[in-house]
Amino acid sequence: MAGIYIHIPFCKQACTYCDFHFSVNTKSKTDLINAIIKEIDLRKNYLANSTIETIYFGGGTPSILSTSELEMILNKLRKECNVVSNAEITIECNPDDLTKQKLSELKQLGFNRLSIGLQSFNEEELKWMNRAHNARESLDSVRLTQDAGFKNITIDLIYGSKFQDQNSWQKTLETVLSLNVQHISAYNLTIEAKTKLGVNHQKGIEPSINDELSADQFKMMVAVLESNGFIQYEISNFGKPDFFSKHNSNYWLGSHYLGLGPSAHSYNGISRQWNVSSNSAYISHLNKSEKYFEEEILTDKEKHNEYILTRLRTIWGCDRNEIEQKFGRNVLNHFDEIVNKYKNYFIANKNVITLNLEGKLRADFLASEFFE
Ligand SMILES: C[S@@+](CC[C@H](N)C(=O)[O-])C[C@H]1O[C@@H](n2cnc3c(N)ncnc32)[C@H](O)[C@@H]1O
Ligand code: SF4
Repeated sequence: MAGIYIHIPFCKQACTYCDFHFSVNTKSKTDLINAIIKEIDLRKNYLANSTIETIYFGGGTPSILSTSELEMILNKLRKECNVVSNAEITIECNPDDLTKQKLSELKQLGFNRLSIGLQSFNEEELKWMNRAHNARESLDSVRLTQDAGFKNITIDLIYGSKFQDQNSWQKTLETVLSLNVQHISAYNLTIEAKTKLGVNHQKGIEPSINDELSADQFKMMVAVLESNGFIQYEISNFGKPDFFSKHNSNYWLGSHYLGLGPSAHSYNGISRQWNVSSNSAYISHLNKSEKYFEEEILTDKEKHNEYILTRLRTIWGCDRNEIEQKFGRNVLNHFDEIVNKYKNYFIANKNVITLNLEGKLRADFLASEFFE
């Protein structure tokens, strides 16, 4: 059982906060798709004939690709990899790309899960983010997607900016609930150094994130969503039962995945690989059959840190038996010491340790305390 991630590194315009790998120059789109097709040929054996149960087009903005471009990649994957017939096939979309026609074509291609980046319903905030859509288009895009027959829809939101207070965030959550979607990913705004927001923050034009307000919004979100049938199965991810992201859950549970496209990461239980984060370098290396990724063989220490980092944030938590079996008695002793030291932030259910609400607010710090 494994998954495939395809990174589509193009966007219509640059959002002020985003430091994912993308370019607003789409001139190289065709060359890049051809390079991805070539990469599929080169890497199809990476997952050693595992069945592919999930395919995830992320970005950047995959919905920027035409139907025939998406079809080319999907057909190649279906031809070369062992994709199961009921695979979860997700595509990240921006609201402004979703027309009735586009949605019907995406359905035809076999996409069965749509991830729509709404981010906010506040017009001023959307402008400040430099999003390519307004709030009305966001709401309409979800309705259009439902009308097109998609039954597994997830939306992305960002909280914690200077535009959100408790009142506006409560209204946002009410609007979200009225949309009747199956899944929500909500991220605390982070100020990334190389973005426009980061530069403006450095110059003193933009304020720092108010951690206390963010924490209040996080707590309100957990309470509201959980009392409306959503399960927080990862710190930033809420799903109705049976609608957790299979792709991301497999990743958090340590399954193997192949990442295609510039900046994509791969993991097969032994090594981790990451592709070059440049569209032109990716295309040119593939065309010249040169190496286009870096690779590291994971040490036991790295495997342990990775286990903590991914599992601690989830509902599945860290299993003491698994830790002892995989990493040995000494590592388990250290694990137990940290759990005991910060016991106010953990829930112990038999041998499984998960974070409580206060723990979730300190997840990165707590994970680092476990690291070897
Ligand atoms: C890289 S985007 C790709 C999806 C799509 N292009 C979109 O914008 O909706 C994935 C998600 O990451 C989140 N994100 C990106 N940068 C962020 C930041 N600095 N802080 C918080 N969330 C961020 C946004 O919610 C976004 O929807
Ligand atoms: S948030 Fe999405 S649309 Fe905006 S720049 Fe990042 S990847 Fe592109």
